[in-house]
Formats: sequence, structure tokens, C-alpha cells
Amino acid sequence: MIFITRRERFNAAHRLFRKDFSDEKNLEIFGKCSNPNWHGHNYELFVTIKGEIDPETGFLLNLKQLSKLIKDRVIEKIDHKNINIEVDFMEGKFASTEVLAVSIWDQIEADIRIYGAELHAVKLFESENNYAEYFGK
Ligand code: NI
Repeated sequence: MIFITRRERFNAAHRLFRKDFSDEKNLEIFGKCSNPNWHGHNYELFVTIKGEIDPETGFLLNLKQLSKLIKDRVIEKIDHKNINIEVDFMEGKFASTEVLAVSIWDQIEADIRIYGAELHAVKLFESENNYAEYFGK
């Protein structure tokens, strides 16, 4: 079994908040990410897939194919967008790094399987120091 990882980057705006909380309570719980007038992050996404090497190509999966899949299903929908209000796969969800990592997994998992590989991990950096990792359960 071999693992390969593709990195993609995007930037997006968000706000972490609950409508039923006051701005003060949101600030207390969600910190700076609850700013009522939004703010952005430069996200870094690492998608790791696993499987067997194809003896004909020496590849697990052509990384161009993987990159295109991530771009089509995730990056084009989220880059330079507001995660809370204009990203279809985040509709009605918290715009946290954790929820976003799980949602990105759901966007690409089935297609990677169709390509003959298996999704192993989605690692999403919201900042240099904070990231979430999801392994499918
Ligand atoms: Ni934030």
C-alpha cells in the first residue's frame, strides 16, 4: 500500500457564530472568528489517498487527475468566497475548520474510489498553527 498527497490552497471568508447568541457571547465562545463583519483565512488543504501502484504507470493515481477533482469539487466552489453564505456544500453548517474538513471529504471521497484509489485523510490548515484532520470516521 502506498500513500500520496496533493496540496491545494484557497482563501475564503467566514464567521463562526450562533444566531441565538449575542455578539458578546459569540466572541466569548468563538473568539476573533466571530467578528460580525467576516474575516478571511488562507487555507491549505492536503488530500492523502492510498492504494496500490499501477505496474503500467508506476502511479497510484495520476496527480493531475486528483488535482482536477479537488479543484472541480472543492476549490472552484470555495476560493475567494464566503463559506457561510455562498458555498453549496457548506450550506446550513458551521464554518469551522473541523466541519469544513469533513465536508471536503464528502465532496471527493466517492470520486476517488471511482478512480481506483481510496481517500485516506483530509488535512486542512486554517492558519499556520491550527489544522483539522479527518480520516472518514
Ligand atoms: Ni476565522
